[in-house]
Amino acid sequence: MNENKPSVTGATTEPELIRVRIARARPEALDVRGFDLVQERGGSLPGFKAGAHVDVHITLPDRRRVVRSYSLCGPPSDQPYSYRIAVLYEEHGTGGSRHLHEGMREGYVLDIAPPKNYFELKSDATHTVLVAGGIGITPILAMAYELAEQDKLFELHYVARTADHMALRKEVEEAAGKRARFYFDGGNPANGMDLGVVLGSPAEGKHVYVCGPKGLIEATRERALARGYGEGAVHSEIFTPPAPLPGDGPITVIARRSGITVPVAKGTSILDALLAAGVKTDFDCKMGICGTCAAQVLEGTPDHRDSSLLKSERAAGKMCTCVSRALTPSLVLDL
Ligand code: FES
Repeated sequence: MNENKPSVTGATTEPELIRVRIARARPEALDVRGFDLVQERGGSLPGFKAGAHVDVHITLPDRRRVVRSYSLCGPPSDQPYSYRIAVLYEEHGTGGSRHLHEGMREGYVLDIAPPKNYFELKSDATHTVLVAGGIGITPILAMAYELAEQDKLFELHYVARTADHMALRKEVEEAAGKRARFYFDGGNPANGMDLGVVLGSPAEGKHVYVCGPKGLIEATRERALARGYGEGAVHSEIFTPPAPLPGDGPITVIARRSGITVPVAKGTSILDALLAAGVKTDFDCKMGICGTCAAQVLEGTPDHRDSSLLKSERAAGKMCTCVSRALTPSLVLDL
């Protein structure tokens, strides 16, 4: 659950894109390729803090344009001259990662959106536990750089299938030194890290950040809450929107302030249906992670599927319209 709200204002229009050149492309691990991106015309790029990501706009060989989010894994900076990303080859994806692996070489140009950050470190944390699985190391590495630079107390736990699957290990060792622990599970999470030991006991000012496969995020979160961590002390981020469920059917949404009734077809998000009907509402990630689209529910029962809202926000009647649906045939929203 990511209760960090975006450090950019809710975007209802596309941000201006930055044209970058691939200055360096190299294998980082089995199925992981790293890229250093620089301004096409030279000069510095917009600054970023640990946890930030960029949306990369990729034109596929069939001319389809897709947008993929990648965490920035280089040292955070106010004036970086390059952005470093690492891309996992997703065999069953829609082609974005395959194109970056197979079709992109040094010297090629790409369009990216300026960094956004829904996964910022808490500046008042006194002890930070960083947990990464596989490609989830990317934002966690940037966090290690930032915490080390600030001389803060932290530890980093990084699990991968095998040593050959472990990307950016040298950088992790440089950033975290003896504070880093490495685990290899051979593909069976039960053989990886002992989360009870990793999490230890909760304490005032102690925060946990986890990024990686959904199973690791859920296990870390459940285990932390069971050990007494507060919901606001456990932070995660995953760039995969929740898949539709087989029982998802059409619903009706009434935007009360706008006076518009919107039929939401099966397979269409509430947010997209609202926008298509002309209802004004902020949004950004459309993945349930930023919370920008959160709307107040006046009537009906939402079926929450986001990873942004806290329990208390849900209890107060908020819902993320980009990914959540309804348990009732209709919802009335304060929009
Ligand atoms: S737009 Fe980000 S959570 Fe809905």
